[in-house]
Amino acid sequence: MPKRRLAAPLLVALLLPGSALAASPAERLAAPCQGCHGVVGAMPTLVGRHSVAELAAMLRDFRSDARPATVMGRIARGYTEEEIGILARYYAKPD
Ligand code: HEC
Repeated sequence: MPKRRLAAPLLVALLLPGSALAASPAERLAAPCQGCHGVVGAMPTLVGRHSVAELAAMLRDFRSDARPATVMGRIARGYTEEEIGILARYYAKPD
């Protein structure tokens, strides 16, 4: 049964990116960002391009609509001040 043989690997493929069992808290928090920002050539790549302060400021500006955005305003509103700090540190360029 070809259907049967496909089921297990498909399930593993679907579960693996979401489960992230070994991921750190910061990696888990940043996982939804990767869908858009992790693809080279799609959205601006976030890793290592801005300082912690710049990243946190951008996210706060998205959250308050000070910075116009298509989706980032809605997304940023889902994160607390503490989580914005974690995300900013996760994506910031090394000092
Ligand atoms: C649905 C796709 C999507 C997701 C998910 C997403 N972003 Fe964005 N991001 C965008 C888009 C599109 C822009 C450009 C501004 C806009 O139009 O909203 C952007 C812009 C940004 C910028 C500004 C980058 C720059 O160099 O100007 C930052 C910082 C950012 N996103 C952070 C994040 C973080 C952190 C997350 C996860 C919490 C995240 N984004 C999740 C689509 C996304």
